[in-house]
Amino acid sequence: MATSAVELDLKLRLKQRTERQMHMSNITARHTALLFKPFVLKNLTLPNRIVMAPMTRSKSPEGIPGPDVAAYYRRRAEGGVGLIVTEGTYVPHPTAGFNSAVPRFYGEHSLAGWKRVAEEVHRAGGKIFPQLWHVGLTPASGGKIREFSARLRSMSVQA
Ligand SMILES: Cc1cc2nc3c(=O)[nH]c(=O)nc-3n(C[C@H](O)[C@H](O)[C@H](O)COP(=O)(O)O)c2cc1C
Repeated sequence: MATSAVELDLKLRLKQRTERQMHMSNITARHTALLFKPFVLKNLTLPNRIVMAPMTRSKSPEGIPGPDVAAYYRRRAEGGVGLIVTEGTYVPHPTAGFNSAVPRFYGEHSLAGWKRVAEEVHRAGGKIFPQLWHVGLTPASGGKIREFSARLRSMSVQA
């Protein structure tokens, strides 16, 4: 029986659709493979291009990251993430932020805590960058802002 024009058209459309799908899955496979290619920038070598985004945890009482924080980041390194960007960490400025459980990136005890974090991550074969934060004044920091403004005013009166 002769193939009708309608059948021929249908076959052609199916063939084109299959080719398009194969093309798309090739592109996806290429892009996915790229994620697992090492990344090199000067003396930084990452085993892959998967980067953990900074995520605030507020689990560092007095701004000091303890052994539990080190274990948290170490587990992420053990999971194989190429680079960890830490939760936001306060820089040494009085208005950098007002949450006392956010880790600081200054002061002997906080820096000792971060040293332990970095060592555990490195031991697990990971790399880690700190996110430096100066978030400034936020509505939630009301009381602290008033206290800080009063301190500033008294400083300018004395000057
Ligand atoms: C619980 C939580 C905490 C976060 N903390 C921070 C942070 O400390 N610093 C920051 O720059 N972004 C922070 N983010 C934003 C994330 O890093 C990320 O940019 C956001 O979740 C959007 O990701 P997506 O574009 O993949 O959806 C936080 C997000 C979440 C869910």
